[in-house]
Amino acid sequence: MPFPRILARAAASALRAPPLLLRAPVLAPRAFTTAHTKWHGHITPPKKGEELHVTFIDKEGEKHTYEVAAGDNLLDIAQENDLEMEGACGGSAACSTCHVIVEDDTMYEKLPEPEDDENDMLDLAFGLTETSRLGCQVHMSKAIDGIVVRLPSMTRNLQSSDFSKK
Ligand code: FES
Repeated sequence: MPFPRILARAAASALRAPPLLLRAPVLAPRAFTTAHTKWHGHITPPKKGEELHVTFIDKEGEKHTYEVAAGDNLLDIAQENDLEMEGACGGSAACSTCHVIVEDDTMYEKLPEPEDDENDMLDLAFGLTETSRLGCQVHMSKAIDGIVVRLPSMTRNLQSSDFSKK
């Protein structure tokens, strides 16, 4: 089977989605939720001797390596270092503009399993791969020290500047 993780994700999403006729009407009231500001937007300087390492490969193929602290997520690290990662929903797993591709399959396996919300958004990500994750959901830890992630050539966001002329 060529893409077992992608197929498994799609199957899980399909099982979670109610049949078309049972879906809530468009105007049904929905709870308004926001991500707690404490969970995004800042990174913590690593303590001496506890530095972890992450490398981003940008759209031009350039590598950028940073020393970071445990707990910081890849979206915040990228934005703090002016890398091109949009993070349109502010890190609440409600878009796919923080899509990253983990370079090494072994490192990918060390990451905690993605939650349902992340899988749903990954289904919408441009250029989805077997080792795709949402950067805002990947938190640095000793287990993934040295992780290398690639930024996809494009992200999918109807509000984004991807569609404006540059
Ligand atoms: S920033 Fe929107 S899902 Fe990560």
